[in-house]
Amino acid sequence: MNAPRFNRRQFVAATSVGSLASLAANPPATPAATRKSAAKLAIEGGTPVRSKGWPGWPLWDPQEDEAQVLSVLRSGVWSRSRVVSDFEKKWAELNGAKRCLATTHGTTALITALDALEIGVGDEVLVGPYTFVASISVIFLAGALPIMVDTDPETFLINPEKLEEKITPQTKAILPVHIYGLPADMDRINAIAKEYNLLVLEDACQAWLAELHGEKCGTLGDLGCFSFQNSKHLTCGEGGAILGDDDRVMDRAVSYHNFGRGGPYLGSKCRMTEFQAAILLAQMQRLEEQTQRRWENGRYLTERLQGIPGIIPHKLYEGVTRAVYHLYPFRFSAEQFNGASRGRFMSALREEGIPCSGGYGQLNKAPFIENTLSSRNFRRMYSLRQLDHCREQIECPDNDRLCSEAVCLSQRLLLGSREDMDDIANAIEKIAENRGQLA
Ligand SMILES: Cc1ncc(COP(=O)(O)O)c(C=O)c1O
Repeated sequence: MNAPRFNRRQFVAATSVGSLASLAANPPATPAATRKSAAKLAIEGGTPVRSKGWPGWPLWDPQEDEAQVLSVLRSGVWSRSRVVSDFEKKWAELNGAKRCLATTHGTTALITALDALEIGVGDEVLVGPYTFVASISVIFLAGALPIMVDTDPETFLINPEKLEEKITPQTKAILPVHIYGLPADMDRINAIAKEYNLLVLEDACQAWLAELHGEKCGTLGDLGCFSFQNSKHLTCGEGGAILGDDDRVMDRAVSYHNFGRGGPYLGSKCRMTEFQAAILLAQMQRLEEQTQRRWENGRYLTERLQGIPGIIPHKLYEGVTRAVYHLYPFRFSAEQFNGASRGRFMSALREEGIPCSGGYGQLNKAPFIENTLSSRNFRRMYSLRQLDHCREQIECPDNDRLCSEAVCLSQRLLLGSREDMDDIANAIEKIAENRGQLA
């Protein structure tokens, strides 16, 4: 195992309630007046806005977290048992759900959930393309067809305006993804689902403790799935969970994830281990405080970025009471940067000491989609007309454009202080004010 990049004192400082309290006492200020200042960009040899590093991830407390893992090791009970059950109880409680089922990964949580909701061959599932590959591949793996619904570029989320036109008699479910921890417009999604009698499976794999109207993402549809993979805010390296309130559906999920035992149906095996659960229980103690910090810092960044020409912060839907920012996204408008490319802007930002990435690519155009549709299995399961219908939905022009404009900051940056957020905003402001140097 890697040594923690923080010693205990630094760890406590980086995650302390004190730093959170200081944020709470200083709610997001009005944006700093745009300063016009000529400065040499770091990419051109100037002094970077920031020369110190950023918090690493994951963080753990050597004393407390390691003791919990050791205790599982020494117990000799490593397969699913008491510690996993304890985690399930606590994750359900924290989210306000009746039941939780822990799984090996977010992907197996989604696969299990699709089976429990009886979504399979012959069904169409409405899903947005601005997401991680697993949100789409699990639909194919269930034997169903993913039907793409274009992205709302302002929010980075499935566009509720474009849902209804995609509904056919084969549509069985909507799979909204709260990408980057930004809550999807569940009010409208649930209203449409109700009107057309569709199931709603939330991919909350990046939305631990995100909220809409004070209710947690992952509890707003029929089932909600989470990932606890290494980069995630609640992590044990690999892990997943399903939340749900319907005992019949959750019982079926429990059975599926354990070879179909305890029920009459076919199952698989995706049981979480005691080690995974021990790490999650330790990590969970800090999740609320870290989540609140990212939310406060994210809102502050949005205020600071708002007035910068060519930088378009994401919007949140009405009713969002907390976004959790697995990545903090904004859009870069090349036209307002004298035609400089997004790649050049991101290189400039990195040189100023701010790590960033371009977010997701055009998943709707990924080769596995056509390869799956033209596979022997799918040609046996569907008529050509059904397969062509799926193919025709792949055009998502708003998503294509978003994929070329997005700039994203990692969640670990948002664990910093107010001054750290100022470094980010000042660097972006500096590049905007000196955009001529990007040519
Ligand atoms: C939106 C989304 N869905 C599904 C998954 C799959 O989760 P896992 O990697 O735990 O299988 C991820 C993980 O990265 C994700 O970000």
